[in-house]
Parts: sequence; C-alpha cells; structure tokens
Amino acid sequence: MKLFDVYPINPINIVKGVGSLVYDDKGTEYLDLYGGHAVISIGHTNPRYVKRLENQLHQIGFYSNSIEIPLQKELAEKLGKVSGKEDYQLFLCNSGAEANENALKLASFYNGKKKVIAFRNSFHGRTSLAVAVTDNPKIVAPVNETDNVIFVPWQDEVALEQAFAANEVSSVIVEGIQGVGGIQVASPSFLQKIRALCDQYNAVFIADSVQCGYGRTGKFFSHDFAGVNADIYSMAKGMGNGFPVGGIIISPKIQPAYGMLGTTFGGNHLACAAGLAVLEEIEQNNLMQNAAEVGEYLITELRKFPQVKEVRGRGLMIGIDLPAEFSNVRKDLLFKHHIFTGEAKPNVIRLLPALNLTKAHADKFLKAFTTVLNQQLVPSL
Ligand SMILES: Cc1ncc(COP(=O)(O)O)c(C=O)c1O
Repeated sequence: MKLFDVYPINPINIVKGVGSLVYDDKGTEYLDLYGGHAVISIGHTNPRYVKRLENQLHQIGFYSNSIEIPLQKELAEKLGKVSGKEDYQLFLCNSGAEANENALKLASFYNGKKKVIAFRNSFHGRTSLAVAVTDNPKIVAPVNETDNVIFVPWQDEVALEQAFAANEVSSVIVEGIQGVGGIQVASPSFLQKIRALCDQYNAVFIADSVQCGYGRTGKFFSHDFAGVNADIYSMAKGMGNGFPVGGIIISPKIQPAYGMLGTTFGGNHLACAAGLAVLEEIEQNNLMQNAAEVGEYLITELRKFPQVKEVRGRGLMIGIDLPAEFSNVRKDLLFKHHIFTGEAKPNVIRLLPALNLTKAHADKFLKAFTTVLNQQLVPSL
C-alpha cells in the first residue's frame, strides 16, 4: 500500500527535536519557527511533558468517557485559571475542526437557529460544517455545501449588521487573527461589534482560537485584546504540544444535557496529561509573557526591512508580507539556513514558533533573513 498523496512535502526526515531545534536523519540541525504548524507550544521533547506522558502511559493511557477521569477536571480547572475564564465549561475532543464542529452545533442547539456568519479568507477546518464555514471553495466538497453559511467581508461592520438583520443567525465564527488567511489581526472594534450584535440577536459568538489562541499572542486568547468575552472558544494545536487534543470552552449561559455532545477519544488520560503539562509550563515559566516580548522584538526588527511590504501579528503569531519577487525566501531559509517557517498565500511567511522561543533564536533568524533578502536582490549572473 502507498500513502494517499495529498501533501506537497519537503524532502526532510526529522527524527529528533529539543526545544525550538529539530534534527534530520543526517544530523543536520534546524531552527523551528513553524512549530509543526503552531502545534509545538512548549518546545519539542519538553522534559515536563515527556515525564508526564511517560508516567501516565505506565498508569493507564485510555478509558472511555463512561467513567470518572479526574484528570479532565484538573485540566478544566487549570485551563480556567490560566485563561482567566474560570466560570466556563470544558468539552474535550481531538482536533481543531472537531472543536469548531462542536461549537457550531452547540450554538444551534442553544438558540434553535441555523444560519452561521463566517468571514472572507477564514479557515476553520476540513470536516463538514467546519469546512462549510471555511472560505476556500477548493476544499469544500459538494456534500459539504450548505445554504446555512453567510460569508461577510473581513472587518466590514456594515455588511455584518445587514447579514444579521436579513437572517436568523445562530452563530458567528471568527478567528482573532486569521492564520491561513495571511495573519490578519481582527480589530478590537470589529470583535466588539460582533459581541454587540450577538447580544442583540441572541446569537452565539464563537472565537476560533485553534491557531491564534493558547497564549501565542501574549494573551491567552487573541480575542481578549478586544476586551470582550466570546460565548465559545475553540482550541487545539498548542493545547497538547503535539498530542492530538482539542476542546471548546463554553460560557455558563449555555447549559449542557446528556448526549448533546460526545466523543470516543476526546479527553482521554494521555491527552489530559499532555494538556496539563502544557498549561503548567505556560504558567510556571511565564510563556505568554515571553511570547509577547520575543514577538514584539521580532515584529519591531522585521518592520525595519525596506524589502518587506508589511509585518502583521501579535506575539509569536507573525506574518511577513513580501513582494512577489521574493517568492524564494522561505525555501532559502529552509534549505540554505535550515530554518523552518510557515507560509500563507500569496507571499506571506508565517512564524508560529514555540512560546518559549529565545531572543538568541530570534536573532539567528533575523541574521539569516537579512542574508536571504540581500541575496534575492543580487541579479543572477
Ligand atoms: C483557525 C483554525 N481553525 C481550525 C483549524 C483546524 O484544525 P485541525 O487541523 O486540528 O482540524 C485550523 C488548522 O489549521 C486553524 O488554523
């Protein structure tokens, strides 16, 4: 059997990782500013994480949600404390798409309505409703198409008001910073408008925090910069530092009922152990503060490059918008300087490193970036 070939891959076999460094099978060291797509939040093979998972594996790895799993309550409590949303309720699942599916479904159960407002250039996942609220027709299969989704231009408050007035809106789903959409930061006034309209029309405000959440921006949820609370926050990626775990936290105004949501794997012992290790590390080592400081440093320095069109983002979620003629920068960073970065179309470099990235590693990147940009300007002989 061969693999179903859906990923354009780089010919690199990473076999080891320590902190923000990874190593291939030939022993070459790489600086990881991509974090395996914003997943590695506390660094590769973080000792606390490895120990927690190893210990848990020796106890029990999995049992279903038909029994008590005290680790889930421990995780909920810790998450409430670190995120500042102590009165919210946690439902655990396994991925970002699944978290958004549950959020959208729960919103509809809550208010009995069907229409969802999503935004242009959004990305919310690849499963049925998550992909339907994703603004990319190429990944929406005919079976996923639905009349229940209304796409509104990003940050267009007038269009948003009109969409609310013309439809029975169940929920609005919005990333605090669009990731796949090219690191577009939602303005506080836009998020405040969503909050006000959701209140006015009894709709549910869903804050997709799968990529922009979990401390990456310097606040636990990037939507927090607007000073308003969402009704549901969806999370995944950084939550388990590589262990597949996702979840939603739900405002106390939404009441649970048996059978409303459910999952086989969600919230298993190993996932909770991973999640707890991540939160302990974030809390005890002030990783949100580090993300804010190192991120601010990088953003300030990157804005000094005359070749860069725009630098967008907050904390360690950074987009470097480059002119079209700089289309090889990412490849050169990877193959000549051994630095992993992410991308967004058409020509944005995305930085999504671990939250404990050091200033020395940031400097290493800035030096390589300078070299690569200067080389792109030299006409080939
Ligand atoms: C904002 C956002 N939401 C949802 C998802 C989907 O997450 P997953 O791939 O874990 O299903 C992603 C993944 O990139 C994302 O960036």
